[in-house]
Amino acid sequence: MEQSKQTPQVAIVMGSKSDLPNITSLFKTLKQFDVEFSARVCSAHRTPDDAVTFAKKAKGNGVKIIICVAGMAAHLGGVIAANTTLPIIGLPMSCQPFNGIDALFSTVQMPPGIPVASVTVGPAGAKNAALYAIAILALSDEKLALKLHEYRTEQTLQVYNMNKELQQELKSIF
Ligand code: RP5
Repeated sequence: MEQSKQTPQVAIVMGSKSDLPNITSLFKTLKQFDVEFSARVCSAHRTPDDAVTFAKKAKGNGVKIIICVAGMAAHLGGVIAANTTLPIIGLPMSCQPFNGIDALFSTVQMPPGIPVASVTVGPAGAKNAALYAIAILALSDEKLALKLHEYRTEQTLQVYNMNKELQQELKSIF
């Protein structure tokens, strides 16, 4: 799935199409910020040559950040990171029987010298992978930086409102 007319700065690489239902908040958040992305299925184990070729060409193709989505023995982030100096965000997937702890450790436990910035497992991780990519792009994009600031302000207001609601509910109960 190649999503845009221009070269998207964010590339999403998924170890399997089966990961798709688990990363909707990644796509939604990038869309919310109007950040263009490409997405492809490419497995560190099952299509290793494709993974290496993609990683080696990514920078030359205008990619700025790669988000690697993988479950089980999740080596995708590491293999991609080993073949490019672009920043890599690892998004571990939850699979049976270990519910993502395997993928989390595989993604986060990189040896020194080849970093992968791992987010957590699940929808929170998928959302944070997008927000982290946005934060990197916002360093050189003032419009995006402003949107990120507004997003944070809105989020803060939501928490203030939650607290107000809680106080009201507590008053009515006790
Ligand atoms: C990983 O293995 C994928 O990222 C997926 O999370 C997991 C299972 O893949 P499938 O067997 O569903 O293709 O490589």
